[in-house]
Amino acid sequence: MCGIVAYIGKQEAYPILINGLKRLEYRGYDSAGVALLNDKNELNVYKTKGKVSDLESFAKDKDISGHIGIAHTRWATHGEPNDINAHPHLSRSGNIALIHNGIIENYLTIKKELENRGYVFKSSTDTEVLVNLIEDVQITQKVDLFEATRIALNHVNGAYAIALIEKGHPDTLIAARKGSPMVIGLGDGEFFIASDATPIVGMTSQVVYIENEEVVKVKLGEDLKLKTIDDVEMTPYIQELQLNLESIEKGGFDHFMLKEIYEQPTTVRDTMRGRLHADLGTVTLGGIFDYEQKILNARNIIIVACGTSWHAALVGSYLIEVYAGIRVKVEYASEFRYREPVIYPDDVVIAISQSGETADTLAAIDIAKKKGATVLGICNVIGSSISRATDAGIYTHAGPEIGVASTKAFTAQVAVLTMMAIRLAELNGHLPKSKIMELIHELDLIPEKIQTTLERSAIVKDIAAEMKDCHNAIYLGRLQNFPVALEGALKLKEISYIHAEGYPAAEMKHGPIALIDKDMPVIFIATNKSTYEKVVSNVQEVKARHGKIISVVTEGDVLVKEMSDYVIEIPDTECTYAPLLATIPLQLLAYYIAVLRGCNVDQPRNLAKSVTVE
Ligand code: G6P
Repeated sequence: MCGIVAYIGKQEAYPILINGLKRLEYRGYDSAGVALLNDKNELNVYKTKGKVSDLESFAKDKDISGHIGIAHTRWATHGEPNDINAHPHLSRSGNIALIHNGIIENYLTIKKELENRGYVFKSSTDTEVLVNLIEDVQITQKVDLFEATRIALNHVNGAYAIALIEKGHPDTLIAARKGSPMVIGLGDGEFFIASDATPIVGMTSQVVYIENEEVVKVKLGEDLKLKTIDDVEMTPYIQELQLNLESIEKGGFDHFMLKEIYEQPTTVRDTMRGRLHADLGTVTLGGIFDYEQKILNARNIIIVACGTSWHAALVGSYLIEVYAGIRVKVEYASEFRYREPVIYPDDVVIAISQSGETADTLAAIDIAKKKGATVLGICNVIGSSISRATDAGIYTHAGPEIGVASTKAFTAQVAVLTMMAIRLAELNGHLPKSKIMELIHELDLIPEKIQTTLERSAIVKDIAAEMKDCHNAIYLGRLQNFPVALEGALKLKEISYIHAEGYPAAEMKHGPIALIDKDMPVIFIATNKSTYEKVVSNVQEVKARHGKIISVVTEGDVLVKEMSDYVIEIPDTECTYAPLLATIPLQLLAYYIAVLRGCNVDQPRNLAKSVTVE
């Protein structure tokens, strides 16, 4: 949800900023811009509707010199994506340029006050209001930009990650954050500021994560100066960055999404490394070790998440209930936060988030903490806001996920939840030791079976060719495969713009069946043993209405296979592990359909990878 990057140092800023924006483009891509302060003290701002490549074309013949600059890739919130609303925004005097990720909720009130004092605004953005508020404070209170920013932010409600440069100050960058993420890279005589660490990888491995309501002054030749907006000096905590360059490049694949789908045998193995001990028949989850009794004794376990992470949560709730006999509620974080949820101090709330930055999930955590619950996190991005806001947690270790449609993060989250369910069952004795051993042994084989699933995926291309012009699709599954159906449908919607619905197979008769005709593809995830016959009946019902049947079955299946127009086989596994395998061909199906329809797979319209606004 908007990417920001800033640079100050001995190198030319422009190439670093553009490269950084390209790495952040997954956060938003409807307009982009850059501001550079050159050696003649000219503040050049170039911005345009479109992608970073459009900005490059636009700035080609312009003066792009300067050793300090700020840049932005936008996901529009206030005002449509056009050249004027694109960032950076300049203050009235033209002295200060600002980029912003987030939403200033009270911007209209501030705007009115400033208008009453003669300010005129060119754009419809909250950002232009903020830069003028800061300049107004600077002028009226006769303070420097660092101080003006700090004071101004006390008048602001909402979320922000901002970076500013000012004419006459070629050695200073100012930045601040609340809600939206921000990291500072400390190089040798140079500094980088970014929404996440990807633009910094390869430049330096020393980073400082800025905390909520902190303002920072980055001045060449000086140590970072960090303050809260309440004027309390803070000591920067310098950390080692744990990211490498290969993990954020496409590595020969046409798209990040395809690369990330194919990475899953490795990423799921990485998720389980050092945690699943097949030889000993044990699971160790070090991150939550001290909280295991709390989980077992919790009055309620509630999982909060959004999007794909919410689907993983549904799988997790099913597994924890089945293995450990513990009831788990799953909530959309966005609903939970406004529902006045009943939470007790002995509840455990688990937040799941790939990015660790989703605003709704963060807000849900905040509520749970205020009510005294223990809050645990399952995050992918190390050092992210959610991982820091929770009492303890488990990293999924899937590596950076750059394609906007989540793939490898989902299987990694499911792998974590599976281990958690097994561990809880081990602790409370709900399953016999022999079953636990069997589950652990089988889970250890899952990465290989994901590999086999990927190798068998040629058929998926044929199905994609058949489905590419359809307008609707229905995905059906039962029990732990119901969230797989939801996830398959979500992938298709997100990247191919085909309307798709996921349903529990038995619910079909209560509505969706009315939609079935010869043009309706119905994708069955039919791997469950316990409900197999029921699903066979559902397949028959669709067939009788001439729907096109595509099914994901376990190898060796006979009945569903016979009735299907297309069949995708996954290796046999423990029934409850089907989501880890059955999701893979559905990810590929959405991918190939999107490619055939000419869609931008990695940057689907209107979406953003990390939703840091409500
Ligand atoms: C956005 C992304 C989804 C993701 C959801 C939750 O909508 O496009 O892919 O599932 O946010 O994100 P999180 O980072 O919290 O898992």
